[in-house]
Amino acid sequence: MVHPSLCPRGTGLSSSSQGRDRVGVEAALTQPAVRGKRILSGIQPTGAPHIGNYFGAIRQYVDLHHENDGFYFVANYHALTTVRDAETMTRQSLDVALDLLACGLDPARATVFLQSDIPEVMELTWILTCVTPMGLLERCHAYKDKVSQGLPADHGLFAYPVLMAADILAYDSDYVPVGQDQKQHLEVTRDIATRLNYAFGQEILKLPEPYIMPQVATVPGLDGRKMSKSYGNDIGIFEDDASVKRKIMRVVTDSTPVEDPKDPSTCNAFQLFALFATEEERAEMERRYREGGVGYGEVKKQTIELFHRLLDPLRERRRALERDPDFVRDVLRQGAKRARGHAAEVLERARTACGMPRL
Ligand code: ADP
Ligand code: TRP
Repeated sequence: MVHPSLCPRGTGLSSSSQGRDRVGVEAALTQPAVRGKRILSGIQPTGAPHIGNYFGAIRQYVDLHHENDGFYFVANYHALTTVRDAETMTRQSLDVALDLLACGLDPARATVFLQSDIPEVMELTWILTCVTPMGLLERCHAYKDKVSQGLPADHGLFAYPVLMAADILAYDSDYVPVGQDQKQHLEVTRDIATRLNYAFGQEILKLPEPYIMPQVATVPGLDGRKMSKSYGNDIGIFEDDASVKRKIMRVVTDSTPVEDPKDPSTCNAFQLFALFATEEERAEMERRYREGGVGYGEVKKQTIELFHRLLDPLRERRRALERDPDFVRDVLRQGAKRARGHAAEVLERARTACGMPRL
């Protein structure tokens, strides 16, 4: 299925095989080349994706899907732990799918679907729940943070990592591209899979590997903390021009005078600039920082230009896709059909291993 606004292979801006200038973060890729593998990741429909999501995760989805079997889904059942309005949930779920396509996923190559369309995952979740120790879940950050803030945590938040494990294990995934904040969940996934395999004495589930880019593992937000929708310190990939400009100009910096030397490694404005810059642009700016003579205002203005250089084609593609809402629904329907086929096979292995006959 090809939408006129979706470019063929390689024009998703981030494929290394295009031979064009790689921007800074990409020039420093340290993950091994991956080919012919099952790649899987999910993103919650909790709001518009930001550049932390883009550099930390979505860009890897796009890069990897050209030469691998990419499965990417909208984790709407995970979002149910926080979103409590049906209309918002549906709208945001379809929006995130559209965002992924606009970012460069080619639906003719990738399997894009909604988590809620794969009931097999829910069934697998229960099987996994039965071999998951309470202590393992009690140590997970999201749950621990909420409890330590004195907030009421429901069972959905507590069991969140088990559902995530089922998402990953249901497709025999090899690699899971995510940001650093999800690393613990990947460790939990491997632990649960090992326990099921051990409990029933068979290789039922395949152990996945996290795929985390060290350079962009945690993209800082406007205030220097991790960029996150929930902190309100994010810059949306598809946010309007005026608001992108306002936000970048607002990035928190110290009061070192223009002429003084500055340390790029501790400067939030530099970190943001480096995300969008080519290797040469980054090295040049780093030199100017250390020498002195560069003001934060100038760095921010350049960052705005580089933001548009990298993301305007994606933003344009999104506008084109928005005009055809049926297209994204078709992509998701076809994706679900394919994903279900795989999940059904894995579920069958798990059911058979633990003695659940089909009568
Ligand atoms: P948020 O924290 O804004 O709600 P999500 O939890 O929806 O983001 O994350 C979706 C994906 O983006 C995950 O793989 C996550 O690891 C990655 N990600 C989120 N924020 C960042 C960030 N600041 N830096 C790098 N990766 C991130
Ligand atoms: N927990 C992930 C996040 O908040 C979303 C997610 C759900 C996911 N299931 C997944 C990511 C499976 C990777 C693989 O970002």
